[in-house]
Amino acid sequence: TDRYAVIGNPISHSKSPLIHGLFAEQTRQDMSYEAIEAPLDGFAATVQRLRTEGYKGCNVTVPFKFEAYAMCDQLSSRAREAKAVNTLIFRDGEILGTNTDGVGLLADIENNLGFKLMWKDALLLGAGGAAAGVLWPLFNAGAGVDIANRTVDKAQALADEFKGAGTVYARSYEELAGRKYDLVINATSSGLSDELPPLPDGLFKPGALAYDMVYGRETPFMAFARRQGAAVVADGLGMLVEQAAEAFCLWRDVRPDTRAVLDKLRK
Ligand code: ATR
Repeated sequence: TDRYAVIGNPISHSKSPLIHGLFAEQTRQDMSYEAIEAPLDGFAATVQRLRTEGYKGCNVTVPFKFEAYAMCDQLSSRAREAKAVNTLIFRDGEILGTNTDGVGLLADIENNLGFKLMWKDALLLGAGGAAAGVLWPLFNAGAGVDIANRTVDKAQALADEFKGAGTVYARSYEELAGRKYDLVINATSSGLSDELPPLPDGLFKPGALAYDMVYGRETPFMAFARRQGAAVVADGLGMLVEQAAEAFCLWRDVRPDTRAVLDKLRK
């Protein structure tokens, strides 16, 4: 039995063991997957312990994605773009790191929700780790991206990474008045404290998709989007399942059927 785990703090509410368990069952993989809470000052030590014990890889979640990035022997270009790692592979004495969050978001938006990103106007709310992790994938998929954040300097720092590659604009929330988007993604942590970023009315174009990266609850952002007439309102559960599928596929070389798992989780 090959062993895998997700490391975070806190970790008790993680759905990853359930999701990977369903993937393993579906694809008949002989593997285990558990949730491990690392002490806040003990992430690297936990990873080393797992390697010593013969684990094949692990997922990394809040707040350790940057530490994971810093300790890899090899990084994928996706990890480099995100400057964060959510998937580790232990292979030939090395730690390989990648980031499947962006691919997961894209798969959910484009495949599950059927919303194509090419030439769409997207607004990304937030400039923390969650926003940084999906910015390059959105940009690479062909969307024009505005980043809005309370602390505009942080949005500007993210936007500055695109100098030469294309145009990504940083905006204050006040500057959003009068602008309209095909897609608004909430990558702030506001939903976790039942708060709503200070958004103006009239943000959504006809047919617009509103996407909250938080899952498991109806956030104030989702309620706002419904009131404001967004055509589709989604939470982040699909992204969670898709990023897990991408990691699973890297570890096991077999792609699980995410739709079946997503349907099961939604029940
Ligand atoms: P994460 O890794 O989840 O992105 P983070 O790095 O702490 O967490 O970033 C949290 C993000 O949510 C930030 O963009 C933060 O805005 P500031 O940089 O201005 O602090 C944003 N955020 C948190 N609560 C918010 C709220 N109530 N309204 C708007 N933005 C909020």
